[in-house]
This record gives sequence, structure tokens and C-alpha cells, in this order.
Amino acid sequence: MSKSKIKYICSNCAYESVRWLGKCPECDSWNSFTEELIETGRRKSFKVPQKVSFHKITEITATEEDRIKTGITEFDRVLGGGLMPGSVVLLGGDPGIGKSTLAMQASANIKNKVLYVTGEESEKQIKLRSSRLKITSDEFYVLAETELGQIIASINNLDPAVVIIDSIQTMYRSELENSPGTITQIRECTSLLMEEAKKKNYSVIIIGHVTKEGMIAGPKLLEHIVDTVIQFEGESNHSFRILRAQKNRFGSTNEIGVFEMHEVGLREVTNPSELFLSEREKQTPGSVITSSMEGTRPILLEVQALVTPSNYGYPQRVSTGFDQRRLSILLAVLEKRANIRVSSANVFLNMAGGLRIQEPAVDLAVCISTAASLLNRVVDNQTVVIGEVGLGGEIRSVGNIEKRIQEAEKLGFTRAIIPSGNEKGIKSSGKLKIAFVENLSQAVELTIGRNT
Ligand SMILES: Nc1ncnc2c1ncn2[C@@H]1O[C@H](COP(=O)(O)OP(=O)(O)OP(=O)(O)O)[C@@H](O)[C@H]1O
Ligand SMILES: [Mg+2]
Repeated sequence: MSKSKIKYICSNCAYESVRWLGKCPECDSWNSFTEELIETGRRKSFKVPQKVSFHKITEITATEEDRIKTGITEFDRVLGGGLMPGSVVLLGGDPGIGKSTLAMQASANIKNKVLYVTGEESEKQIKLRSSRLKITSDEFYVLAETELGQIIASINNLDPAVVIIDSIQTMYRSELENSPGTITQIRECTSLLMEEAKKKNYSVIIIGHVTKEGMIAGPKLLEHIVDTVIQFEGESNHSFRILRAQKNRFGSTNEIGVFEMHEVGLREVTNPSELFLSEREKQTPGSVITSSMEGTRPILLEVQALVTPSNYGYPQRVSTGFDQRRLSILLAVLEKRANIRVSSANVFLNMAGGLRIQEPAVDLAVCISTAASLLNRVVDNQTVVIGEVGLGGEIRSVGNIEKRIQEAEKLGFTRAIIPSGNEKGIKSSGKLKIAFVENLSQAVELTIGRNT
């Protein structure tokens, strides 16, 4: 007979404790312990099975063409070229960001059977959404159910190519005593779905909520189980959404997909640069255009800086979409190497459009925009500024310069300021004038004039 006892599990890293703890000793997260029932029945004795089967790798057939295309190019790219049969994708995101909408739109174009399992909405509510999204697919099936045994039975009955679970927090296995949404239930349900998907070769998209701390519930546990983890992000006051892979067993994690939310659903943004540049004010001091590689695509975006005098001893440094420590380093370099006195000023930095940039290629634009705002000078808005800034004030070369230049040319920019280290092998059609810079002072002079 199975017995059960109570344990406390960290919802972030699955560390187990017999007592409730305020701070996890394993991952240092606060307030992450939840009470769980653990079954402690006697284990069955270990038996070695008589029959086993294995194959030579040369005998196994699998091709890239097996991938199921969702027809949404941005989604397929983030997945690594489409859904891999037998794989499990975890789609996470804030409440109301559009997870169900994306999953539904993605399945609408799939030629084979799709089963949409909903634990949150009724069949009628799903129907209303599908009418709004104008989904007419004949192969789209809906099941309103939360018990996993029933769900697996329905899947076996229907034999679909893709199953959508909306959401994993509402699903439960009846043989466990824990309530739905607990770590044990989430983990066990996901493991079973993974096992079944691999056995029967269908793809599963699992929708997961993000907790208030910004984690997909039990992220570390699920990250290990599933094949792909995709995060759907966006600002509530912006209509665009970004899809980002955090883990992908079958593709790169560098790719992003960009969408805009409309009444008729999510619309793909095939040229994100146009979107991120569309709202820029003409000729404002402190605004500089730069280029950041997001996966294999260059995205042009606006860096905005606002520098104001500080009346207190401690000037403020606030950045949105850019690492605060990196900003402090760049400001120190700007002061020491280019003689721009920012140490006693407040500096506010923003990557327009809500993007988060980690690439050092935007360093130079951050420096130039800060200098321009401090000195109240305008940088020509047809100029794109690219380069990594070193501690010595030197401008270091960046990768993929050809692609960045081509994108700037395509969008009608007339001048590019780039590192001299990138001079070799660069081709421009002549429409875009390229200036090469070796150090920060040179770049400041070329963009906002002499620092006097
Ligand atoms: N009638 C409508 N017109 C315009 N936009 C709508 C309409 N209905 C819903 N939306 C948009 O769709 C979003 C909700 O999408 P969806 O239900 O797919 O999100 P979700 O991430 O699945 O949410 P939840 O976490 O609640 O399941 C809303 O935030 C809103 O932006
Ligand atoms: Mg939903």
C-alpha cells in the first residue's frame, strides 16, 4: 500500500526539504517553497527484462523534411524550422500575452489533425476565439478535459500530428493525490506527455503560465524534461510580441520571432527594423540608430539617452533594455577617453520599442547618444552607428558587418560609422557612405562634432 508524506519543494530548482524554508539553499530564490505530497510506498523489486531492442544508427531513417511547418514563418524559425515530430515544446509567457492565440493560429495551417486540449476555457469560448481568428481548418479538434488519462485516451483515439495542452497548470493525473498546478502534478503530467509523444511520434505544445517572479512554473524541472522552451514576451502597452527560444534540442536559441497583436490575432512582422524605427522622432538630441544581431537577422533600433544635471551627490543611472553595469563602464570610458564629463550627471538610457539588447555592438551608439544628449547636439538620423567599445576607448570590430550594412542600405540609411577593424572585405553599393573609426574621440567628432 502506498503511503504519503508532506515535503517542501523549491518551485525554481526542485530542492526538497522536510521543513518550509524562506530562502532556497540551492538556488538562493526567496519564498519559492511549496508544500507537496510525496508518495512513499515500498518499491517493486528490480527485474531485468528478457527482450530488448536496439538499432544501428545507419538503419534509422529521419530527415529534416519530417518537421511539421506551422506556416507561421516567425514561429517556425524560432523552433528551428518547424515542429519536430515526437517533440515537446513548452510555450511560456505572462497572462494574456497571447499564448493561446499563437498556439491556435499555428495549428490552423497544419495539414494533419490537431487536438487542442483546453483546461481553462470551454469549447464555446474556444469556438469564439477561433471565429475571431478566422480559423476554418477541418482538422482542428477541441477537447475540454483536465484529467491526463482521458486526454491520452482521446489522443490515442484520434491519432493527431500535433497536440496542444492549454495549460499544463490545469492538468492532473488522477493516481496522484496532489492538486492540479502543484510541482508534482506539473512534472508528472509533462513526463507522461513526453513519454507518449516520443512513443507515438506526435508533437506536443504545452502552454505554461509564468509565475509572479517571472518564471515558468517549476522552470528548471520542466526545462530538463521538455525538448524546447519558448518564451513569449511583450510589454502590455505595446502591441508587438517577441518569441524567444531559451532551450532548443533541435535548433538555435538565438533566433527571435516578432509579432504584432491585432483584433484578428497575431500578425507576423517580417521586417522588425521598420517596426522598431517607425516611431522615432526626427532629429532629437540623444537619439542614435544602431544595429543588433538577433539570431541570424540584423535589427536596426533606436538608442535613446537623456542626460540631466544631478542636484545630489549620487547621480542616477537608469537603463531599460540594456545592462546597467555595462552602461556604467561605458560612461567611465566616455569620460576618461573622450573627455565627455558625465560623472556628475543623471543618465537615463532606453532601447526604444522595449527590446532587450545584450550585444556589445551597440556600445558605440550608447556612448554617442549619451554624449549627444549631454551636449544637446543632434546626430543625423540617416546615420547608423555600430561598434564595441573597449576600456581603452578603442572601437572593436563586430561580427556580421555585411548583413548589418545591407539592412541599413535597404532601409535607406546614407551613412554608417563602423569599426576600422571591419574595413577588410566590406562592400557597399555606393548609396551608403561608410566611415571607419578607431577610437571613441574620432566617433564623437564624426557624429556630433568637436567636443568643445
Ligand atoms: N476582441 C479582441 N480584440 C482585440 N484583441 C483581443 C480581443 N480578444 C483578445 N484580444 C487580445 O488577445 C490577448 C489574449 O490572448 P490569449 O487569450 O491568447 O492570451 P493567453 O496568453 O493565452 O492568456 P491566458 O494567460 O489568460 O491564457 C488579449 O490580451 C488581447 O490583447
Ligand atoms: Mg490562454
